[in-house]
Amino acid sequence: MKDPVRIAITGAAGQISYSLAFRIAAGDMLGPDQPVILQLLEITPAMDALQGVVMELNDCAFPLVQEIVATDDPNVAFKDADFALLVGARPRGPGMERKDLLEANAAIFSVQGKAINDHASRDIRVLVVGNPANTNALIASCNAPDLDPGQFTAMMRLDHNRAKSQLAEKTGKHVTDVEKMIVWGNHSATQYPDLAHCSVAGTPAFDLVERDWYENDFIPTVQQRGAAIIKARGASSAASAASAAIDHMRDWALGSDGIVSMGIPSDGSYGVEPGIMFSYPVICKDGKYEIVQGLAVDAFSQDRMKATEQELREERAAVEHLLG
Ligand code: NAD
Ligand code: LMR
Repeated sequence: MKDPVRIAITGAAGQISYSLAFRIAAGDMLGPDQPVILQLLEITPAMDALQGVVMELNDCAFPLVQEIVATDDPNVAFKDADFALLVGARPRGPGMERKDLLEANAAIFSVQGKAINDHASRDIRVLVVGNPANTNALIASCNAPDLDPGQFTAMMRLDHNRAKSQLAEKTGKHVTDVEKMIVWGNHSATQYPDLAHCSVAGTPAFDLVERDWYENDFIPTVQQRGAAIIKARGASSAASAASAAIDHMRDWALGSDGIVSMGIPSDGSYGVEPGIMFSYPVICKDGKYEIVQGLAVDAFSQDRMKATEQELREERAAVEHLLG
């Protein structure tokens, strides 16, 4: 039996966590042989609801769950944590852009970055889900100066999975036939889902779909998928977000099957401003991710990558006072 790992989940009484915590407890993130200690964080007014979630987790009698900690103190929630999924934040409503949440949510991530810095395992891997995820991840990492910024990542996997699903449906193939999907940039309406390197069952995507569909249907559909779900459900995506968070962390810890998209601190690759949390194509291996280098970028792609980079620069400028 392996030693248990400590997994902190914030916003643990919220919508996403209602799927996420149970799937992690079932072994979907780190495998069926990895015991887990769940460290669940909520704000004080939500502690009753969190107790209900803990009761249900207990009632599942999950074999892998060794202990559950439920707290409203970030210093307790992140104590010795090996993984942290920062979900707790306000979601947007109809008509809002994710960056409209910046002011409401930014303070959460500076406090939690400090608590992670002071209390978590030195090897912690952090995924920020709460929106605007990329800039919140930047705030958290800047408030954790004793850790490597590369230990902080932002969730782009939902966008990546959405893009795969749209292309598979269009080409009449299965999602597992889609390879080398890339979503660049920000988890926002400026994100750039890029088919230039993508193939479906071994055939280049551009041989299978019209340019017009790519530019005027595929790209906007993926960019606007979060808003479409809010309109249809009356609430933002939850189970699919939880599933993407599990995919992101599982691949980071255990290795990816080819290219995946992750929001990570830019090292300047592909001419992107260093430091911002930009989504790149990466391959995960041996517990680490590495940017896929040397991909050709044409003028169309360059324009879109610049636009999403510009938005991330503006978001960073808006929270400069929280970056330490
Ligand atoms: P929700 O409102 O159902 O749950 C959020 C929970 O966070 C609430 O229970 C709230 O009490 C808690 N919370 C608030 N402040 C907190 C704090 N300081 N510490 C701990 N907990 C805190 O929202 P949700 O639907 O679960 O969504 C959570 C966030 O995830 C939102 O910001 C949403 O926009 C974002 N999201 C991101 C993606 C992505 O792809 N990156 C996808 C879906 C949703
Ligand atoms: C999503 O992409 O579904 C989430 O970021 C929620 C949102 O506000 O769109």
